[in-house]
Amino acid sequence: MVVKQNEGVQIKGNASQGAPLKLEQVKFLKNLAPPLIAAFLALSPICNTPAPAVAQSIDIQRGATLFGQACIGCHDGGGNIIQPGATLFTKDLQRNGVDTEEAIYKITYFGKGRMPGFGESCTPRGQCTFGPRLKEDEIKLLAEFVKLQADQGWPN
Ligand code: HEC
Repeated sequence: MVVKQNEGVQIKGNASQGAPLKLEQVKFLKNLAPPLIAAFLALSPICNTPAPAVAQSIDIQRGATLFGQACIGCHDGGGNIIQPGATLFTKDLQRNGVDTEEAIYKITYFGKGRMPGFGESCTPRGQCTFGPRLKEDEIKLLAEFVKLQADQGWPN
């Protein structure tokens, strides 16, 4: 159908070589478009750091989800609604000696003061959350997440 119509135009309008060539060009470009786009994306700077960026954003997302489930009630936006001097911002973390992933891991696992511990083997019971406990790798991810967020001033 398309070819016939095109032939008709060619004869009728006497546009001769113009029309079919144009069609060929369009076809050619259409066929070329996907690989061109692919090449463009592959070469574009946005996609030049895919591996680390993707891996990191997935971790941040998982960390943010865990944080939203277990921590946000008291630490929304990195703050501390119970104890204003113990936020998750670097200046407080530093002053309180918990500005390393290890220290954040520990406090998240065992708790401290009015901060409940979330570790599976957290003791004593009174110091630990009454809610669900977190696995070690979840606490590790949270420690990484909190440290990263603190370093960046809690953008997420
Ligand atoms: C019930 C409220 C509450 C929840 C839920 C909670 N925290 Fe806390 N958090 C606190 C309080 C209170 C402190 C201060 C403890 C202290 O220094 O005596 C604190 C302190 C901290 C600190 C040290 C901050 C500093 O500047 O000294 C970190 C890190 C921390 N919490 C991480 C977490 C993480 C991660 C979660 C989620 C797994 C979480 N918290 C859940 C109440 C909470």
